[in-house]
Amino acid sequence: MQEEREQWGSRFGLILAVAGNAIGLGNFLRFPGQAASNGGGAFMIPYFIAFLLLGIPLMWVEWGIGRHGGKFGHSSTPGMFDLLWKNRFAKYLGVMGLVISIVIMIYYTYIESWTLGYSVFSMLGSYSGMADLGSMDGFLKSYQGLNPDGYFSSIWTAYAFMIVTFIINFTVLWKGLSGGIEKLAKYAMPLLFIFAVILVIRVFTLGTPDPAFPDQNVWKGFSYIWNPDLSKLGDIDVWLAATGQIFFTLSVGMGTIHAYASYLRPKDDIALSGLTTASTNGFVEIVLGGSIAIPVAVAYFGVAMTQDIAAGGTFNIGFVSMPVIFDKMPAGGVFGSLWFLLLFIAGITSSVAMAQPVIAFLKDEFRMPHKRAVLTVAALVFICVQPVVFFLGDGFLDEMDYWAGDFGLVVFATVEIFLFAWIFKIDNAWNEINEGADIKIPMMFKYIIKYVTPVYLVVLLLIWFFQKALDKLLLTDAAPEQVPYIWGVRALFAGLVTLFCILISKAWKRRKLAAAKAAKE
Ligand code: TRP
Repeated sequence: MQEEREQWGSRFGLILAVAGNAIGLGNFLRFPGQAASNGGGAFMIPYFIAFLLLGIPLMWVEWGIGRHGGKFGHSSTPGMFDLLWKNRFAKYLGVMGLVISIVIMIYYTYIESWTLGYSVFSMLGSYSGMADLGSMDGFLKSYQGLNPDGYFSSIWTAYAFMIVTFIINFTVLWKGLSGGIEKLAKYAMPLLFIFAVILVIRVFTLGTPDPAFPDQNVWKGFSYIWNPDLSKLGDIDVWLAATGQIFFTLSVGMGTIHAYASYLRPKDDIALSGLTTASTNGFVEIVLGGSIAIPVAVAYFGVAMTQDIAAGGTFNIGFVSMPVIFDKMPAGGVFGSLWFLLLFIAGITSSVAMAQPVIAFLKDEFRMPHKRAVLTVAALVFICVQPVVFFLGDGFLDEMDYWAGDFGLVVFATVEIFLFAWIFKIDNAWNEINEGADIKIPMMFKYIIKYVTPVYLVVLLLIWFFQKALDKLLLTDAAPEQVPYIWGVRALFAGLVTLFCILISKAWKRRKLAAAKAAKE
């Protein structure tokens, strides 16, 4: 028996779901860290350029490819690419849209589970009294199982929160598109907004929080994050960082936007919806995400230390400096829980999206019933998350994030834009994007999609490859003790790519056989 194709309940629900997909840890942790360590206000110049020339066009392209695929019953990129390019290799290019999204899900849910853990610790006051960054870092390390002498003597607390987070994610997915994902977004997104606004107001009203440091205040924080250090604009790394952030935050370049868009009806608008979700994400990122973690760190620690914190990475900002600050703040337990719950909500509306392409692939291409598809993906993710948890200190997560969450997105985006704008042909692509449109997209974007975005992507890819990826690939700067784990990650990637290629090949053979049989009858 064949299940019916799923559909979104309402347009508003769909927009919330796609916004939820885009708004995630990237908006509240990755963005402030990147902005602060890449020239502050000056970072926003390449950021806006990338938003305009890559982010928005790719958003429309992905909605377009997705809705087009949905017309033919495909919600994952192998089937979608097969429609764009009548070549038997096309579907195998689509394997990227399965592997990248599921790999990101594997490590992202683990980080998401820390936010759940920390919201509980904030309420319980577990980290109270760890008043400096060093001891809070020890607390985090002990939670991650990397410091047996710390607060947590083993990794099992973290493991338990991982399991809880995992179950919540797959429960939502079990309930399906409109009953699970869309419903979650309807509750989670308003809540996220309220929590973020409360925290921003708290930051704005902090003034000079620590009487021991009368010359530090939150306004210096804002001027630090927004003050443009224009000398940074000559630095190619800043451009790469800004572009990488646009990709990550909009969730483009990995197959999840396609999946969500595929459940639209053929004449549903995508032009306005794509723009709305991209702008909502931008607003939450810049206005809300930019007003919490960094300004508050400057107010408590000063500029120099904040710089170190930001350079120490995303986790440092979220799980070390913020808890220390909450510990110093009046009613910090409440604000701390609010902050970590905010991150958790932002995270879960993103992580459920990451599973959707593979679930949809199993359902569409193998006629697998929904529940069995969800369980299959759950099993796959559960197995693959184990090394992420236990080899965290060995660079396992970082290596996964680099190839899937950074480099992979750009490769994927380059492939899809060539398929859509050149092989499928720009006129068809443009019609697809504009069909049923509620706004008139400026004609200029037709040319941007055809020329500017592809050229931008190819140049980016080349620079990226030679400046960074090559060294990574050849393990030039890798710590020797991490090398075996890095190869473990690569073996995992190779395994997943092979697995999905075999599945694609099987699915298409099956379909061919079925078609031949139908023709005979
Ligand atoms: N955009 C999400 C964030 O800002 C993260 C993300 C990256 C994502 N890739 C994704 C979310 C794919 C959903 C699907 O945190």
